[in-house]
Amino acid sequence: MAAAAAAAAAGGGAGGGTGGGTGGTGGAGAGAVYLGFDFSTQQLKVVAIDGNLNVLHQNNVQFDSELPEFRTQGGVHIQPDRLTVTSPVLMWVKALDLLLDKMKRAGLDFSRVRALSGSGQQHGSVFWKRGASQTLRDLDPEQSLNQLLQHSFSVSDSPVWMDSSSTQQCADLQSAAGGAQSLAEITGSRAYERFTGNQIAKLLQSRPDQYQDSERISLVSSFAASLFLGGYASIDYSDGSGMNLLDIRSRTWSKICLEATAPHLDRLLGDPQPSTAVLGRVSPYFVRRFGFSESCSVVAFTGDNPASLAGMRLQQGDIAVSLGTSDTVFLWIQQPRPALEGHIFCNPVDWQQFMALLCFKNGSLTRERIRNECAGASWEVFSAALKETPLGNHGNIGLYFDTMEITPPAVGVHRFNQDDKKVSSLSPQVEVRALVEGQFLSRRLHAESLGYSIIPGTRVLATGGASSNKEILQVLSDVFNAPVYTIDLSNSACLGSAYRALHGLTAESGVSFSDVVKNAAEPQLAAKPHPTAQEVYDQMLKRYARLEERVLQESRP
Ligand code: ADP
Ligand code: XUL
Repeated sequence: MAAAAAAAAAGGGAGGGTGGGTGGTGGAGAGAVYLGFDFSTQQLKVVAIDGNLNVLHQNNVQFDSELPEFRTQGGVHIQPDRLTVTSPVLMWVKALDLLLDKMKRAGLDFSRVRALSGSGQQHGSVFWKRGASQTLRDLDPEQSLNQLLQHSFSVSDSPVWMDSSSTQQCADLQSAAGGAQSLAEITGSRAYERFTGNQIAKLLQSRPDQYQDSERISLVSSFAASLFLGGYASIDYSDGSGMNLLDIRSRTWSKICLEATAPHLDRLLGDPQPSTAVLGRVSPYFVRRFGFSESCSVVAFTGDNPASLAGMRLQQGDIAVSLGTSDTVFLWIQQPRPALEGHIFCNPVDWQQFMALLCFKNGSLTRERIRNECAGASWEVFSAALKETPLGNHGNIGLYFDTMEITPPAVGVHRFNQDDKKVSSLSPQVEVRALVEGQFLSRRLHAESLGYSIIPGTRVLATGGASSNKEILQVLSDVFNAPVYTIDLSNSACLGSAYRALHGLTAESGVSFSDVVKNAAEPQLAAKPHPTAQEVYDQMLKRYARLEERVLQESRP
């Protein structure tokens, strides 16, 4: 059965609605099942596949609505300084309790799960309190993880990728490494506020007691893997590349960066491991409480963007655009050429290769704000506005940075008319198009400055929550002047994690990822560029670049 048909039979549409699970793992007999989890910003999601890559089951837990006791908005707490952004670590733990219960109720037979893997929002850090490893080893199957791990974290609110409060620590790290470019040469990125090393340095300086009380630091991904393992999971090379600590060429912690961040930090991080590594078997807790097989393997968890690269089966020459809470653009690359903008990560499916990534903070949440203000909180009305306004928006352009943007580092809403004059408002329909065109012009501009060029045959592969919106994808196709493809599931991070679980079982014996997933359904064409798109957007891109420069100059102190 093709993935589309399986997903439909599973009752879980591309948008992955709440409780979109099946009544069982279906299919022929007692075949093996592979699970892929994604601990993302706004929700915890899961996909189950069989050995033929058919999707058997999807499910999710929305943090804000299903765990209201944690009082998050969009899965996070924004602190009063507006720069510090955190998420309660026990919310993630409780979400896993809830998700596994939902899967059980939906009839998923955990005894058939041969391997599981997963992903997490990148850069976030979890600080395990002294004694937590003992607690993880001795989990009592009669109790929930939430009950058992109440006292296992020295920091209850984990810093996450939306944080931009560690500017001082970034400057310190760069100066220790001999400048921004030197740091990028080692770690794949100049110092970024959300990168884990800078968050660790900030914790050490601002709350030394909590730091001293920690026996291990995990990324969100390795934290989640630790829950399944009943012991601390290694950080994988690919997600480890988002810390400003890993030497992306030697794939070991950089001595210079470690020393500049915190004394003896390597002891708290453990050794990094290949993203394809089998870290061990699922802990007895899951065997007894949910009926997992004792032989179920846990394959290293990784970052959500690396997992998406796997889920979309990205090929050289393709460009992936992920439209989740953050918007990201990423590529598969062979040779790392780190620059002052963007990131180079170790590749999650082939350890000898790399991926390049750009992250834009003002993605879906900004689209939601404009939808609420200009389209009566309805995606249908929002989409109609895109349909009813012309390519190029009569020359109106907008840059919408509701919160301090990562790429480029600017803030505020800036609207310009056809004469490049700043205007304070646009009509609702024009505003909707200005937002979406502006976002995609920015994605293209920065991808091009990373060295990416659109050539005949280029495929834009779209994923993430907003990729279920055809009109948004049409604007993406027009701005990039390239066809846009989607896979059946908009949560490619989950699917990629399930694929990686399957691949992990044979990776060590040399089987390639592409071989394991070669029979997966091909991405489907979702939008083709309009014949006038190139003419309109080549011009508009130049204007956008000038206006972005102007905004940056105006915002410099
Ligand atoms: P994450 O993995 O970062 O938690 P998702 O990839 O699940 O996020 O995307 C969630 C976002 O998808 C929501 O914030 C919402 O704005 C967006 N989304 C969902 N449906 C639509 C739609 N029809 N049109 C545009 N955006 C949508
Ligand atoms: C990537 C980034 C975000 C998070 C959340 O660098 O910060 O995309 O991974 O999805």
